[in-house]
Amino acid sequence: MKLKKNARCQICKQKGGNKKAIIFLPHHRLALCKDHYISWFEKRVEKTIKEFKMFSKDDRILVAVSGGKDSLSLWNALAKLGYNADGFYINLGIDQYSQDSKLLAEQFAKKINRPLHILDLSKEVASIPEITKATNRPACSACGTFKRYYMNKFARDAGYSVIATGHNLDDEVAVLFGNTLKWDIDYLKRQYPVLKEENGFLKKVKPLCRITEKESAMYAFLNNIEYIEYECPYSEGASSIEYKELLSKLEEKHPGTKLQFYTNFLKKMYPLLHKEEKKDLTKCKICGEPSFQEVCSVCKLKQQVSKAKTV
Ligand code: AMP
Ligand code: FES
Ligand code: ZN
Ligand code: ZN
Repeated sequence: MKLKKNARCQICKQKGGNKKAIIFLPHHRLALCKDHYISWFEKRVEKTIKEFKMFSKDDRILVAVSGGKDSLSLWNALAKLGYNADGFYINLGIDQYSQDSKLLAEQFAKKINRPLHILDLSKEVASIPEITKATNRPACSACGTFKRYYMNKFARDAGYSVIATGHNLDDEVAVLFGNTLKWDIDYLKRQYPVLKEENGFLKKVKPLCRITEKESAMYAFLNNIEYIEYECPYSEGASSIEYKELLSKLEEKHPGTKLQFYTNFLKKMYPLLHKEEKKDLTKCKICGEPSFQEVCSVCKLKQQVSKAKTV
């Protein structure tokens, strides 16, 4: 269902106004004007934060920003809602993609007048293209490992109490779908929008988990947020993109499918899967960060990179 010509904002109408609607949200059956869309988005984010007990106004929040629409929209909404949220950008050294996204993240930080911390992966280890060459592993999997490691280490060392990422409903549903196809119970058990703090891992949250990709793009557009509009060159052919396309087709025919799949998983399936279990977490004997093995995966990758450098 598309926005009807001359449709009016439903909230304005309730208040006796008659503003033209600029967006129709099929699965919420809502037609809204610009101002009411922006406040709808922010209220929905705030409701998610409160419902899942993500953080409060007393927390020091580190928003992981990629320069994309989701993380910048999230940072904008948190700042507007009065949360104490700073940004963190990891320069992955992926040629033009990293240069462009870094610039956009920096520009945005200046615009909202909040600090943006930048970590250069090339200085810590090497760039993602170099790491990919040295380790022979798919770029995205090594990249994810490094991102998680440095987000956690940086935030903890700098005294933040929680890390917020911009994962949206489409991201979460695509991952859920992939894990369900494989019945990957170990991943399904951990697929929750809040991961509590434990054993050196800081609390991690996804406040946009009930916001679709289209909704966050619209919020960014209406707030004049400039974001990187193309994907990382390594993302081509990722199965999650195929799942997203498939699920979006379903969503078009049956609005609300994605939200229902995700929220019912959280309500009905997650509690069955998630039993408190003791994990054998230890400390990496090289860097001291939390790890399930003697040497953590980042240190193992670092060893492979330095080996490749000496050959
Ligand atoms: P992605 O895995 O690229 O879909 O990104 C998911 C989330 O991870 C984003 O919304 C950001 O919160 C975070 N993120 C991705 N790339 C970076 C980066 N280079 N620096 C900091 N955070 C990032
Ligand atoms: Fe990490 Fe693309 S952003 S490989
Ligand atoms: Zn309105
Ligand atoms: Zn280590």
